[in-house]
Amino acid sequence: AMATSTFKYVVLGGGNAAGYAARAFAAEDGAPPGSVCMVSREEVLPYERPALSKAFLFADPPARLPGFHTSVGGGGDRQDAAWYESKGIAVKLGTEVTAVDVAAKKLTTATGDTVVATDALILATGCEAIKLARTPGADLKGIHTLREYADGLELYDGLKTCAGKKVVVVGGGYIGMEVAAAAVLMNCDVTMLFPESSVMPRLFTPEIAAHYESAYKAKGVKLLNDGRLCEAFLDDGSGAVKGVMFCKDHVKDEVDGQLVVVGVGARPNVGLFKEQGLKTAEGGLVVDGSMATSAAGVYAVGDIAAFPLLLDGGALTRSEHVAHARASAAQAVAAALGKCPAPYDYTPFFYSRVFGLSWKFYGFNRGTSVTVGDFAPTLATVWIDGGKAVGVFMESPSDEQTAVMQTMARAQPAVELGALQKLVPSKDAAAL
Ligand code: FDA
Ligand code: NAD
Repeated sequence: AMATSTFKYVVLGGGNAAGYAARAFAAEDGAPPGSVCMVSREEVLPYERPALSKAFLFADPPARLPGFHTSVGGGGDRQDAAWYESKGIAVKLGTEVTAVDVAAKKLTTATGDTVVATDALILATGCEAIKLARTPGADLKGIHTLREYADGLELYDGLKTCAGKKVVVVGGGYIGMEVAAAAVLMNCDVTMLFPESSVMPRLFTPEIAAHYESAYKAKGVKLLNDGRLCEAFLDDGSGAVKGVMFCKDHVKDEVDGQLVVVGVGARPNVGLFKEQGLKTAEGGLVVDGSMATSAAGVYAVGDIAAFPLLLDGGALTRSEHVAHARASAAQAVAAALGKCPAPYDYTPFFYSRVFGLSWKFYGFNRGTSVTVGDFAPTLATVWIDGGKAVGVFMESPSDEQTAVMQTMARAQPAVELGALQKLVPSKDAAAL
């Protein structure tokens, strides 16, 4: 029978942001037991999603739940089933929400049940992986994307069977770089295929990319990039993938792989809100400095939120990163609880870890970049825009250096590029 349940606070989604929303609701000055409900399509409680492309794949033994439930990455309790129960937070797992009425703050699930929020509805549906669904052969067995826990388990099992065998990673961004590194550590023979001239093109300068690419090449990874586009996935005759056809300058070629990982970006899960009259921008839902959407009592957090980035003059920005998922969830909960928090003031932060390398970036990668050092022992790149240092990248920064990076990204100190270029050889000052 269909059921209706009513809570003061409802969280739609059970990912990184939802886990941190639960943490904030459960805090001493949070919401009373019994007043919060979380509804998630995933079969598992919220966890630190970044683990899926890191320790989940290659650590020995590999990380598995309940080891990395939120909020372990943010220094909080490990929120397992007993935790949710003890905090009086209701959780509906394996529950797909198929309709949302934002005016009524009401969710309808695939089974026809409804969940209504009386005070606040927090939308935290995150992103889905882009699947290259229109590329011929996209349905073949052995083609993976990586977003949720179940994807991770399938990918791990697939890579396990590929030790000594060929694997193709399509995409040169975060998933591409991290999964390629994991596949190498699982003894696969890895080729990366992506169209740009170097890895992580959204962030890395060519000289930064060159250093990481040399680490990949040293591990035997082959790069097929620079204009090469994935045109088709090839069938081995039994419905399983046996490789990828690609094209450059109208010339076709093929690369073998009995497993293919597609990491070509993510798309915000906002389909449910399309007809609801919410303001949208940047592919997400527009929110204010409290993460409130244009509908009363409805908040959006994490990957789907297009929020005013104060450090960038209030420009509406989406951030598909975990630090923002954590902080925006805490902000929305504070606002939902009537605490009137100061406007959200996020500092863009990106990081990754591959092959024992570990980089961090704070701020904006715009303007002109100046690089100091050569990875031996380390390297720092600073981006200068409008006479100010606006972004800073470092490989393997210490805690002390990380603090300097954070301070610099917040303060945006004035830097005279001409003076700097006199100090640093000009080959290292590359116009972007
Ligand atoms: P998230 O995707 O975590 O959660 C969304 C939730 O909503 C999911 O549980 C989903 O099932 C649920 N949902 C969606 N639609 C639904 C519906 N209709 N009904 C019910 N439930 C629904 N970031 C970073 O800063 N550093 C890193 O190292 C990494 N590494 C990394 C690795 C991998 C493999 C991925 C996929 C992503 C990262 N990220 C990252 C990005 C980071 O994980 C991401 O920004 C956060 O998970 C965003 O949190 P959200 O809660 O917004 O979405
Ligand atoms: P991404 O945007 O980082 O990288 C996408 C890459 O796909 C591009 O760099 C490009 O090389 C490639 N690409 C695009 N279209 C292509 C095509 N048609 N054929 C071949 N290559 C193509 O996205 P992602 O790596 O898929 O990551 C997905 C999500 O997961 C993002 O939200 C990301 O922030 C998140 N994530 C973050 C981290 C991290 O922060 N360390 C790690 C893993 C995943």
